[in-house]
Amino acid sequence: MHSFGYRANALFTFAVTILAFICAIASFTDTLNSPSPTVEVKVLNINWFQKQPNGNDEVSLTLNISTDLQTLFTWNTKQVFVFLTAEYVTPKHALNQISLWDGIIQSKEHSKFTITTSNKYRFIDQGSNLRGKEFNFTLHWHVMPKTGKMFANKIVLPGYRLPEEYR
Ligand SMILES: *[C@@H]1O[C@H](CO)[C@@H](O)[C@H](O)[C@H]1NC(C)=O
Ligand SMILES: *[C@@H]1O[C@H](CO)[C@@H](O)[C@H](O)[C@H]1NC(C)=O
Repeated sequence: MHSFGYRANALFTFAVTILAFICAIASFTDTLNSPSPTVEVKVLNINWFQKQPNGNDEVSLTLNISTDLQTLFTWNTKQVFVFLTAEYVTPKHALNQISLWDGIIQSKEHSKFTITTSNKYRFIDQGSNLRGKEFNFTLHWHVMPKTGKMFANKIVLPGYRLPEEYR
């Protein structure tokens, strides 16, 4: 006869094995999901555009961000961290990446939305490079699963340009 303790222990081991198995399946089915989020960004207004006393350019934009991240959500998704950057090249740096807006999305129901907002974080260049500057908006996301590995990706929206003159 096995003791109660022995049987409880065996049951526990069995339960942990099943749980590990379910977790493995969960993260595996996540890799089968090939998400196809969409985003559109419009610059509705250049609120102002100046050279600061220290010589760095700063611009304030009003943006219309319209995104559909529903396909990032599976039953294994805990939340999605999303951020929008402006990315451009200057003589000094091959990639300048300025974070303008971010958000944490907790559920699929809230993952398709349009917002009109001025940039939440300041758009400042480390120099005086922004006049007439071509840039891309890039929407980056990090998906935090309930179990398994975090994954990240982005959508690049090329072809934006800042005004030639301060205003
Ligand atoms: C923002 O973009 C969405 C999608 O393109 C559009 O339906 C909406 O009218 C725009 N809002 C403004 C204020 O331009
Ligand atoms: C902007 O996007 C274009 C087209 O995808 C790409 O060739 C270019 O390298 C991007 N610029 C930056 C600074 O990432």
